[in-house]
Amino acid sequence: MSPLNAEISRRRTFAIISHPDAGKTTLTEKLLLFGGAIQMAGAVKARGKARNTQSDWMKVEAERGISVSSSVMTYEYGGCAFNLLDTPGHADFSEDTYRTLTAVDSAVMVLDAAKGIENQTRKLFEVCRLRDIPIITFINKMDRDGRDPFELLEDIEESLALDVTPASWPIGMGRDFLGCYDVLGDRLALLEKGKTDQDHVEECAGLDDPKLDALLPAGAVEKLREEVPLAKGLCQEFDLGTFLEGHLSPVFFGSAINNFGVRELLKGLIAMAPPPTPRATEERLVSPGEEKVSGFVFKIQANMDPKHRDRIAFFRLSSGRLKRGMKLHHVRSGKPFNLHNPLLFLAQDRATAEDAWAGDIIGIPNHGSLRIGDALTEGEDLKFTGIPSFAPELLKTIRPEDPMRAKHLGRALRQLAEEGVARIFRPQIGNEWIIGAIGALQFEVLADRIRTEYDVPALLEASALHTARWIEADEAQTIKKFIKANSTEIAEDHDGHPVFLARNAWRMDQVVKDWPGVRFLKTKEQTR
Ligand code: G4P
Repeated sequence: MSPLNAEISRRRTFAIISHPDAGKTTLTEKLLLFGGAIQMAGAVKARGKARNTQSDWMKVEAERGISVSSSVMTYEYGGCAFNLLDTPGHADFSEDTYRTLTAVDSAVMVLDAAKGIENQTRKLFEVCRLRDIPIITFINKMDRDGRDPFELLEDIEESLALDVTPASWPIGMGRDFLGCYDVLGDRLALLEKGKTDQDHVEECAGLDDPKLDALLPAGAVEKLREEVPLAKGLCQEFDLGTFLEGHLSPVFFGSAINNFGVRELLKGLIAMAPPPTPRATEERLVSPGEEKVSGFVFKIQANMDPKHRDRIAFFRLSSGRLKRGMKLHHVRSGKPFNLHNPLLFLAQDRATAEDAWAGDIIGIPNHGSLRIGDALTEGEDLKFTGIPSFAPELLKTIRPEDPMRAKHLGRALRQLAEEGVARIFRPQIGNEWIIGAIGALQFEVLADRIRTEYDVPALLEASALHTARWIEADEAQTIKKFIKANSTEIAEDHDGHPVFLARNAWRMDQVVKDWPGVRFLKTKEQTR
């Protein structure tokens, strides 16, 4: 195997999706702990707190106890290199999540054993389904009294219309939780509270192995021998192909806070989760094993370090081996792009990446030259697809408290729009800006950031507008005519693309009927 293919096959790039409080942070922490990326549990939270003191934007995060920003962490375990992408835990940031999920090859869905499928789990799952992302389920908090495991499996199948199969089976629950039986590998893993180095694991020759009688109380063995065949009979058998297509989810049970089941999950990721998969472009499918480097930006985060006012583009390397100092081709501008300082994100630190391989996520510091959807290649003009913007469902107007600072506000808005924080529209007539969001919290984050990072106190006001649609037509002339006839309802987004702003649903229907040659789009590909 070539060094490139060897490196690709040991990479796993995945995200964790969950409803707030299911245990995503705890699980992330434990994954990093076992991966040697952090020395001490608590670091993920501590990192969060340290960040929370840095800006008011993060204050929104702290006050509401939600995670707004997504980030990436890289660690090694069992010979594999993992890129773990965090997703915002709040529905209002689903667009960010959607784009983050364009950069992963699989996802871990964390459920609280007492709650099963919750609102936000369902929403995030739907995003995964749109992209057929394979999902491994981790049912957490087994050390607490939760729901019956059969009921939980049924809940996943029914709520998500997703087939499941037990990868492990819990022995007891709550105070009586003793561990799990590895259904796929016939091993017994016993919970030893407070232990972090190794789980007590015993290889078994199947459920009839007398070892089980020696290690577990009689009642627990009897129940295990009854339940495992029953669960296997009720569920589909594990099939790698069906899992990779996103139709079957293997389910692990555990307790992240007790470090239990986390290694099994990591082993599951190594054994089942796919290495980097090909990525679609308008031109062709890009395979990770291609020698030439290519990749795309799926997220921009500004001011991660307020001392430096930096802007980091998160870049998924889609093919080849990237080396520091490479000169790449920036497809949108046609200009060369020097990769001076690509970053790898370790749990608490950033490190300069000397090289990276297809599937890796790197950070590229820049001053605004990179935008969401941008491609960097070794010369080929590629446009990666599937990184859309969504038409906002909520619209507000914004103006500076001090009218003299209108220009500053414009600059701040443009930069934040490039980051994908919210949509901005500049109506052709009048000098207000319209802000569009998918979720109301986005407005708060935006207003906070404009005030703290750009020092432009601004007023957000309710708008009488109903919806916004990007407009497109086959003939440039048609668009021109449409814009002329409806000039009071036309605005431009931050890329200069024309947008129709409708006052109400009736008006929207009316223009759709009156202008059959015009397409009114709810999403816009970022690459265009
Ligand atoms: P999130 O990122 O998905 O929102 O969840 P997080 O990890 O912050 O966990 C939510 C709460 O659940 C935390 O308690 C955490 O300690 C607890 N938790 C996580 N995993 C387990 C588990 O396996 N068993 C049990 N019993 N609890 C678990 P908290 O009281 O809200 O926060 P903290 O004060 O413990 O930090």
